[in-house]
Amino acid sequence: MSTLIEADHLTRILPAIVPVTLVRDVSLTIGDREFVAITGPSGSGKSSLLYLLGLLDRPTSGTLRISGQDTSQLDDDALARLRLESLGFVFQFHFLLPEFSVLKNVELPMRKAGRLSASEMSERAAGLLEELGLAGHLDKHPDQLSGGQRQRVAVARALANDPHVVLADEPTGSLDSKSSEQVFKILQDLVKKHGKTVLAVTHDMDIAARVDRRIHLVDGKVVSDESVAQVSV
Ligand SMILES: Nc1ncnc2c1ncn2[C@@H]1O[C@H](COP(=O)(O)OP(=O)(O)O)[C@@H](O)[C@H]1O
Ligand SMILES: [Mg+2]
Repeated sequence: MSTLIEADHLTRILPAIVPVTLVRDVSLTIGDREFVAITGPSGSGKSSLLYLLGLLDRPTSGTLRISGQDTSQLDDDALARLRLESLGFVFQFHFLLPEFSVLKNVELPMRKAGRLSASEMSERAAGLLEELGLAGHLDKHPDQLSGGQRQRVAVARALANDPHVVLADEPTGSLDSKSSEQVFKILQDLVKKHGKTVLAVTHDMDIAARVDRRIHLVDGKVVSDESVAQVSV
């Protein structure tokens, strides 16, 4: 198993009159084809850790390597490019752009990466959306879809540039149980069938019970990190 993410003594302190420690001395490695849940009480630093691992924030101390590359050596532009090309994000609220069609929303990260022609982008976006069961919805706008459908568009957008790792912050947190199950199955397929690594912050114990590995945080610290042997599908 190759190592994709290597965090070594990561700490993130918010500077303030009374500084707030969001993440405390976290060391962990995340490999290929892992499905990892990050759990913990509200305010335990789950989102903060995910943002560090996803290059949306920088640590106060400690080092973070992505595919062997020390990210502290990268300037903001290089970080943004690494993020765009190797990581995909899904948040609790979809953050789709309301003025664009579903298809255009999924094309956006490809436009930013600037590697494909217009027709290649729309073909790839349509293919991803079709795989996620949204074939009939390409020209709709996000507000014409259900919550579950919007979250599937957000997953398609996260996959736009074919990242190795998908980071999800409470991806089922605003969904009903049927839509949650669909989104969970999609994330599971990304790992089992498409060889991605998925790191999902979740409050949903039913979901946490069904992943390969659970990292539990309390007060910004990892208090347990347990892998569960899974029968592969
Ligand atoms: N910008 C901020 N300013 C002040 N406190 C913050 C900020 N962001 C997060 N926190 C605090 O840091 C802690 C960790 O937050 P967070 O990572 O969002 O936790 P979780 O995702 O587990 O609920 C919480 O106590 C939160 O209130
Ligand atoms: Mg959070």
